[in-house]
Amino acid sequence: MNMNTNKWMLSLALLAGVSVMVACGGGEKAEETTTTEAAPVAEEPMAEVWVAPASAKAVANPFKADAASIEKGKGIFTQYCVSCHGEDGKAEVPAGLAVKAANLVDKTPAQTDGEIHWKLLNGKGAMLKISTYGISDEDGWHLINYVRTLAAQG
Ligand code: HEC
Repeated sequence: MNMNTNKWMLSLALLAGVSVMVACGGGEKAEETTTTEAAPVAEEPMAEVWVAPASAKAVANPFKADAASIEKGKGIFTQYCVSCHGEDGKAEVPAGLAVKAANLVDKTPAQTDGEIHWKLLNGKGAMLKISTYGISDEDGWHLINYVRTLAAQG
């Protein structure tokens, strides 16, 4: 190899090194942009209306919506549901959450307790069935009594 070839090889090696750095830098940049942007909100779960089966409609809530039931429901709601549905049930939760939960104030008034209870027992997508959290069927009814108070506040 003469001097010229050596120089040429050296610059080729340098060039290769630079392009690798550029490529890596580019990759890091792309990652940075995705993390600083708000996490994309999943549209799919909200795209179709979730309908409980007709048989669920007539199932009555065995618990009167008295202060004790509402209080019980509130405790469970605060512990397990607020993270997605927000304290007011309107799902105005911190930005960056990947899942957009249903606005319960909008969605529940048109439904019977039986329909909502069926949804709590069965879940859908990110909305896990309440048994996953160890919440009983019975406590599901108390939750509904509490959610009704949120909806009444509008
Ligand atoms: C991980 C987030 C998450 C948690 C926690 C969560 N939900 Fe949900 N919830 C959702 C999502 C998402 C939907 C919309 C499901 C769909 O329609 O695909 C939903 C839907 C619902 C609906 C049905 C609304 C409709 O369309 O009729 C009710 C009622 C409900 N949630 C109540 C609750 C209650 C009560 C709790 C607490 C036990 C709870 N959720 C916990 C995410 C969550």
